[in-house]
Order: sequence, then C-alpha cells, then structure tokens
Amino acid sequence: MAFPVTRMRRLRSNETIRRMVRENSVSLNDLIYPLFIIFGKDQKNPIGSMPGIFQWSHDRLPEEINELKQLEIPAVMLFGIPECKDALGSSAWEEHGVVQDGIKIIKDIYPDLMVITDVCMCEYTDHGHCGLLNSDGSVNNDATLDLLAKEALSHVEAGCDMIAPSDMMDGRVGYIRRHLDNNGYENIPIMSYAAKYSSGFYGPFRDAAGSTPGFGDRKSYQMDPANAREALREVELDIAEGADIIMVKPALAYLDIIREVRDNINLPVAAYNVSGEYSMIKAAAAQGWLDEERIMMEVLTSIKRAGADLIITYFAKDAAKLIHNSHF
Ligand code: PBG
Repeated sequence: MAFPVTRMRRLRSNETIRRMVRENSVSLNDLIYPLFIIFGKDQKNPIGSMPGIFQWSHDRLPEEINELKQLEIPAVMLFGIPECKDALGSSAWEEHGVVQDGIKIIKDIYPDLMVITDVCMCEYTDHGHCGLLNSDGSVNNDATLDLLAKEALSHVEAGCDMIAPSDMMDGRVGYIRRHLDNNGYENIPIMSYAAKYSSGFYGPFRDAAGSTPGFGDRKSYQMDPANAREALREVELDIAEGADIIMVKPALAYLDIIREVRDNINLPVAAYNVSGEYSMIKAAAAQGWLDEERIMMEVLTSIKRAGADLIITYFAKDAAKLIHNSHF
C-alpha cells in the first residue's frame, strides 16, 4: 500500500464490535405509548389511518394495559374522546370524564405505569379548536387558561402522574403550575409541548381523537414549520414558567429542533413521533415497499441521536418487543 488508509471498517466488521461502539440506542425506558379512551361498552375501535392503534372503552382497557405491563413499557400518554362536546369543552374536567375514569382503571392494573395526560380542549370542544372562541372565531388565550387548569387538576385528582399541556396557549405552563401548587400538587411534573408545530403530520391523530377543527386551522397558536429560533424562545418561556420536561413535536421533520433544544437546555427532552410519521411507515410496509421493523428502529434511533431522552410513539409496543428479544 503506497499510502496509509484509515481503516474505519475495522470497527464495523461484525455485530459484536458494532454493538460495542454504538453511540445511541433505544431502550424501554425511553418509550411513552399514546392511548385513546372512549365511553361505551366492549369497544376496541380500529383507527383506519393508524393500523394497530385502537380507541378503547373502559371495560376493554385492561387488555391493553396488561400487554403494556407484560412488555414493561414505563409510560402512557392519555387522550380522551368524550360523549358530549360543547363550546367550552366542559366534559374535559368532569369528575367521571372519559380520561378521569380511565386513569383509575389503569392504575388499578399497573400501578407503576407513569400515567401522563394530554391537556387540551380540542377533543372536548364542538368547534374542535384548542381553546375558547371569541365572537370572531379566534381563540381567546387568557380565557382558555382557566379551562386548561381545571382540566389538569381534574386529571391529577383522578390519579395521573404527569400533565402534558398541548394547546399552545401563551402562559399556560405557569398558570397550570400555580393551580396545581395551590391545590397541593406541587410534586406533579409538567411535560410541556413547548415547540409544537402546526403540522400536516397530525392528520391521522385527528381521526383517532375526533378533533379536527370545524373551521380554519391551528396556525394562529401552533408554530410555523419554517421557524427554528422561535422554538428556543418557546422553550425558554416554558422553563421559566416551571416546565419539568420539554417536548418537541413532530419529531422527524424537526430533528434539527430536537438537537437545538438539547444543546441549549438542561432539562429532559421528549420528542413526539406523531401519527402521520407512524402511518407513513405502516402504509409503505403494507405495500411491501419498506421493511417495517428496520425502518421503525432506524427512525426511533434517529430521534435519540438528535438528542431526545424520551419518545412518545405509536411504535412503543412493537419496539419493546424487539428490545426484549434483543434483536436490537
Ligand atoms: C391536541 C393534540 C394533537 C396531537 C397531540 N395532542 C393534535 C393537534 O394538535 O392537532 C397530535 C398527535 C399525533 O399526531 O400523533 N392538541
């Protein structure tokens, strides 16, 4: 050899050495599984655009929770589909609301499961927006804060472990924090959807949660996908208001934002691998165009590599199965 060749391939030559030098991996501890809960009896409703994901009625919820327990998945994120919707979204804070009663069932079966609840108005309002409307159809920021705080407190009173506000109203983290503290819940953490973009990737979720806005869109409260600096500003504000964990959402088209947040703050960072990101892979795999398991782990690993500590993902059960079988 006339010139020295740097042998990068030495550390790639077999699986053992590759495992030894691997920089990032997905572990069970990283996974948070979203769950959709509905009223009714004997319901396990498939969501057409999200194969493998269901809406569960309270009486069938134990099936799903037992599977999560068996797989040792550490956390869930709950979404509720109420029976009645109104302009205020008042079923969001009912003592026996769909999420509130769901929490008790879950905690009975798997007490160690970290139950995180999504706090937002869009599943509960008849217009499908994330807050109270002004007469001109715009969302009234400050009047919405009260409703979110009531919803959050009712979830905590029902026994949830963590609150995740996803509405994108200004000031809501501080407002909810104060309300929880005033009611003796200073130890309940808040995972804030801090950098939540106005994204087309939420499409399938809105089928699952029945939360498509009746008119207009969410661009006046969720972030513009073109902005990166603004994400840090959102994150700084949420930290100043008392957030314990910072979330970036969606994940894949926003890996740069995850990295940016990771490099600039010292709180745990969560990324939401959203419904559309799941459905794209499922659809391509169903056609035989992609290897589903391989792509799933590649995607989840990329989110870890970008700097996320936690991943909210519809793939949590599938990933956990692979991790248990040491195929990864
Ligand atoms: C509620 C909420 C949404 C998602 C999580 N919480 C929908 C939205 O903002 O329109 C999306 C999750 C997903 O797509 O998987 N505001």
